[in-house]
Amino acid sequence: MTGQNDRWAELTGGQTGEKYAQRFAQLAESGYDVHGEAAFCAALLKPAARVLDAGCGTGRISSRLAELGHRCTGVDIDSSMLAVARRDAPTQEWVLGDLARLSTLGLEPGFDLALAAGNVIPLLAPGTESAVVRQLAAMLRPGGLLVTGMGLDAAHLPLPEPPVTLAEFDDWCAQAGLTLRQRYATWGGDPYHQGGGYAVSVHCLSAM
Ligand SMILES: C[S@@+](CC[C@H](N)C(=O)[O-])C[C@H]1O[C@@H](n2cnc3c(N)ncnc32)[C@H](O)[C@@H]1O
Repeated sequence: MTGQNDRWAELTGGQTGEKYAQRFAQLAESGYDVHGEAAFCAALLKPAARVLDAGCGTGRISSRLAELGHRCTGVDIDSSMLAVARRDAPTQEWVLGDLARLSTLGLEPGFDLALAAGNVIPLLAPGTESAVVRQLAAMLRPGGLLVTGMGLDAAHLPLPEPPVTLAEFDDWCAQAGLTLRQRYATWGGDPYHQGGGYAVSVHCLSAM
């Protein structure tokens, strides 16, 4: 299963799960810290929090968060990626589905945190981004967090041009009731400066 016109499917042909997992396994073997995203999210969470990993891919982040005691649900449209997640963490919840139809996937709302890491937002099908942000917000409890990491230039994206600007993204968030709480340049918490090539953003759903 791949998304219609989704940029990730165009790039990979929907067959890249094993290769993707091998790349991260090699990085881990070489001593690179592959758990930066999970550590960043864990620092924002209370124990046993509910996490929605949107565009979870091979589940590398959810699996780590689950090891840390959180209750994670991963959603991805690429069955080759999800096959790796299911093989490596068979007891976790993995849902094959399109984030543009998140509200139809039968997930229980009330998540403490929704994560879209690894350029998920820029890799969505063109024109679906605002609907995805709206549906992610709808999955959060009041006060819940949307955490995203996205490239803003070609050096930080697997695409020739950045399809999404931070201003557009912040607008979609605002329309969905999400307020920007923190923004960094890296998952390690380096400060973000205007014009930077990568942004890690934490938006918060207004309490009703
Ligand atoms: C670069 S991978 C990142 C995977 C994972 N978040 C990580 O950081 O390792 C981007 C993922 O977004 C997923 N994706 C893109 N568009 C999607 C959509 N409309 N619905 C669900 N997943 C989507 C792709 O299938 C892919 O697994």
